Amino acid sequence: MPTEIFLQSPLDMHIHLREGAMLDLVAPLSAETFAGGVIMPNLVPPVADLERLEWYMGEVRRAVGEHIFTPYMALFFRNYSEADLAAVREHIIGIKLYPEGVTTNSEGGVKSLSDAEQTMAMMQDMDIPLLVHGEVPESFVMDRESDFLPIYDELAQKFPRLKIIMEHITTAAAVKLLDRYENVHATVTLQHLLITLDDVAGGLLNPHLFCKPIAKRPEDRDALLHAALTAHPKLMFGSDSAPHPLEKKECCGCAAGVFTAPVALAMLAELFDAHDALDKLQAFVSGNAQSIYGLRPPAKTVHLLKEPCTVPAKYGDVVPIRSGGEIGWRVV
Ligand code: NCD
Ligand code: ZN
Repeated sequence: MPTEIFLQSPLDMHIHLREGAMLDLVAPLSAETFAGGVIMPNLVPPVADLERLEWYMGEVRRAVGEHIFTPYMALFFRNYSEADLAAVREHIIGIKLYPEGVTTNSEGGVKSLSDAEQTMAMMQDMDIPLLVHGEVPESFVMDRESDFLPIYDELAQKFPRLKIIMEHITTAAAVKLLDRYENVHATVTLQHLLITLDDVAGGLLNPHLFCKPIAKRPEDRDALLHAALTAHPKLMFGSDSAPHPLEKKECCGCAAGVFTAPVALAMLAELFDAHDALDKLQAFVSGNAQSIYGLRPPAKTVHLLKEPCTVPAKYGDVVPIRSGGEIGWRVV
């Protein structure tokens, strides 16, 4: 049984870094262990034009400081002209579509998918990936993702050359969809490999595990875990680490989002080790993303040891997953 591993250029393919003081707090925590990440655009207002994107990329780079970390910028989906897309193309990894009102800061999201098709057609022609928060906001909370799956079917068939990424999948049905279409890929978070709705709301309510999409049933978690542990080639790690200050989580009207970035790699090593699958971790946290997006991330070796470490109760005023608890692995 290995007691250490070396990961080459781990990538976090879905991360919320925020702006201002929160960005300064969390960006270095990601950059300590990851070589790059896909930076989500749901600021207020959203990152929805080239000028704001360049400003935000500069902010992220500044906050990351001396660490080796490439921010792969995602633009907020709206209807763009061909000239807009041509100008922004080389600065982005893809465009992130939020149905209107589906999650934190998605008020400017898409109201009608048919109105979005012209932009999607241009994205297909320009080879710009489409990243999707795939939930139907009007549906019952446990069904929001499964109700969205037919929309993925439709998009995958209508735009067979468009690279579609189902972000943060949470259901066994979404895992199955990966094998149905060549152009459909997915990210999965750490928490959705570990928890079910029981951990959020089955006993005492745990606001720090509340996120969108909500954690689902044991059979969903098991299907996600199986796909991750076998390094399904169309599945990438994307933490969806989403920091909110403590007073926005431990309150009535708790914000959605689990903060995992600083402990994600150690917890993934622990999880893959527990299932004798450490040999699949490299593909899951980097190789698959490199193949899917055609990325060449900066070289960065991360050394992990099978030694216990204690998770801080808080980072600044943000409570991480497993706050105050122990992880069986640590980053050297
Ligand atoms: C994210 C956030 O807080 O920005 N929250 C979450 O629960 N995942 C938004 C998102 O990705 O849905
Ligand atoms: Zn997210």
